[in-house]
Amino acid sequence: MGIKIENNLFYINSKESSLIIEERGGYLLLKHLGRKIGSYHFSNTVCERDHAFSGNPTPDNRAFSLDTQRQIFGQHGLGDFRQPSIQIQNGNNAVTDFRFAESRIIKGGFELEDLPSPHSTEDAETLALVLEDSFAQLRLTLYFTAFEDSSTIASYSSLENLGGQSVVLHRDLSFMADLPAGDYDVLTLQGSYAREKTVRRHRVEQGIFKVSSNRGASGHAQTPALILCDAETTENAGQAWAVQLLYSGNFQAWVQESQLGEVRIGLGINDENFAWELPAGQTFSTPAALVTYSDQGLTKLSQESQYFIQHHILPKRFARKERPILINNWEATYFDFTREKLLDLAEEARQVGLELFVLDDGWFGNRFDDNRALGDWFVNEKKLEGGLETLIADIHAKGLKFGLWLEPEMISVESQLYKAHPDWAIQVPGRDHTYSRNQLVLDYANPQVVEHIQQVLDHLLSRYDIDYIKWDMNRNITKLGNGASYLETQMQSHKYILGLYQVIRYLTEHHPDILFESCSGGGGRNDLGMMRYFPQVWASDNSDAIARLPIQYGSSYLYPTISMGAHVSAVPNHQMNRITPLATRGHVAMMGNLGYELDLTSLSPEEKEQIAQQIAFYKKIRPIVQLGQQYRLINPESGSNEAAVQFNYEEQVLVTYVRILSVFEVMERTLKLKGLEEDAFYELQETGAVYSGAELMYAGLTMALPEGDYLSRQLHFIRKS
Ligand code: GLA
Repeated sequence: MGIKIENNLFYINSKESSLIIEERGGYLLLKHLGRKIGSYHFSNTVCERDHAFSGNPTPDNRAFSLDTQRQIFGQHGLGDFRQPSIQIQNGNNAVTDFRFAESRIIKGGFELEDLPSPHSTEDAETLALVLEDSFAQLRLTLYFTAFEDSSTIASYSSLENLGGQSVVLHRDLSFMADLPAGDYDVLTLQGSYAREKTVRRHRVEQGIFKVSSNRGASGHAQTPALILCDAETTENAGQAWAVQLLYSGNFQAWVQESQLGEVRIGLGINDENFAWELPAGQTFSTPAALVTYSDQGLTKLSQESQYFIQHHILPKRFARKERPILINNWEATYFDFTREKLLDLAEEARQVGLELFVLDDGWFGNRFDDNRALGDWFVNEKKLEGGLETLIADIHAKGLKFGLWLEPEMISVESQLYKAHPDWAIQVPGRDHTYSRNQLVLDYANPQVVEHIQQVLDHLLSRYDIDYIKWDMNRNITKLGNGASYLETQMQSHKYILGLYQVIRYLTEHHPDILFESCSGGGGRNDLGMMRYFPQVWASDNSDAIARLPIQYGSSYLYPTISMGAHVSAVPNHQMNRITPLATRGHVAMMGNLGYELDLTSLSPEEKEQIAQQIAFYKKIRPIVQLGQQYRLINPESGSNEAAVQFNYEEQVLVTYVRILSVFEVMERTLKLKGLEEDAFYELQETGAVYSGAELMYAGLTMALPEGDYLSRQLHFIRKS
């Protein structure tokens, strides 16, 4: 367990995985990344022979080349022609030749100063491998943390300039590894706005497969992560590795199959819109990365990743805290609300048993539509008739918590903030702006902007009795050009993210009881960097229950359910125009952190009664969904007409089954459950019927849908003692 150094071998052992590195001739060679190898007698060597056109570091050994050795970081210009993980301009070139100098074992994990790091590292151990390039006068330290309770290893690296002159980083990835030649697939969570996190699986072929963002945010279309697995890996069997970045800005994640069939994975800040000037004596740290391993298929990989994120990434205070069931007024009213309307909605919310009332966009400045007022974070007293204080008091008096929407990284041209500080918007001075939703982005790379926003929001959160914040970000960055030089502008995107983390770290530390939910037009920044501060994400602006199935399914590949907001919305659905029964809308939203986003005041008494029953039921099963272990049973993607998910928690089991389109004359699906105790008995709460675990897992249960308006079924079992 933990770190062990034997001769020239470094063993990084997590619960069930090992990373083994060998130091040879000053180079660090990757010997193994996979299933745990507990014995310390590792002697595996790569077959060495003279490969044409590969570089050799010494003239006396034509068989040794970095081009054919497996490595844990890759340098530019030394005869390894695969993708490098670092590229540092020093003098007139970008060649570095780092050689091993020393190693250290550190108790606990690492804590990055201005970037998110895993927490709860008391039982962890960290290996620091220090390398130096005496010619370029640089020191590179690679850190690897092994956790006793999980099969995830965390990593990052720091680069120190020991010389007298600046160097410029053009690439500095957070993690890189080479795996032996084989048949691999790569899985990514991709999509678009309103179609986030759908699973894509491709065969790895010679060349590069890459997902990346140049939007200034991780984006809706990709997730800063990839999963590599053996081509035959399924949910239940086979090897899989997940690499994930704790970063919310421009990233790259790629897999490269070399001419010899070996496979390299790389993950870190994107090269596009990135360079970093590192003056003499200073250090640059990469964002942290996570590597999770499973040799029991993708379900186990997901469970390991979900566990790690819930226990080591989500803020401790909220990681295992059941989340309030909310009502959000956005799809209920959009901008068209009055104080009376809000209070009517809150009253209905109280009556059906909801717990948190969220006031979305439109409460501040001159914000009557989405063309103006971003940056003016003061209450529109006229619209709220009497102000926020009394509104919050009235809502609290109903026994509801109060939440508020903010979009603090933005500025509208029509705003008081823009009048006072037009230069605070990201822009190329002298050129016209590029708009998106008619708004501009504030330059969080500018310390004055960061200080201003921090102060304004600190004041707002101190003054009002707020229980929850929805932190939105509704456009991406264009026309970067606030730097005094090209190089400074190249540093702007990363500085922006550092500024953002500074603000949100400050606010979450100073207002620790507020539950923050991150949002970027839904899942436009649904990444681990944000999750380290904000324990919940609005997964998509698409609130259609059927469209949500693949989004929630994809999200489960890496993220814990407790991080995902899921709302019941009106029919016809506002994005898809689809009509889905209320029962099914409830069943799907109950596979996440349940909320409601529709005008309760316009519903019939029967519908309100049904919602009250859903809420009462969710309160019973909430710990199963938010704290339990998840199993994917039927994949709703690629034209499938069904979806099914199971959660197990202590003695309880919850199964949700959805049939998307009605079909006639087919046999009902027999669903086989997972992760139960064979000899235990489970009582189905709906009917009182009792089944053995073996029967539920091996014979399965027939998913007959009830007569009438039903597309779905939810089954709640309790294990009999
Ligand atoms: C974004 C969010 C929505 C809502 C609106 C408000 O689109 O994703 O949920 O808050 O902004 O303008």
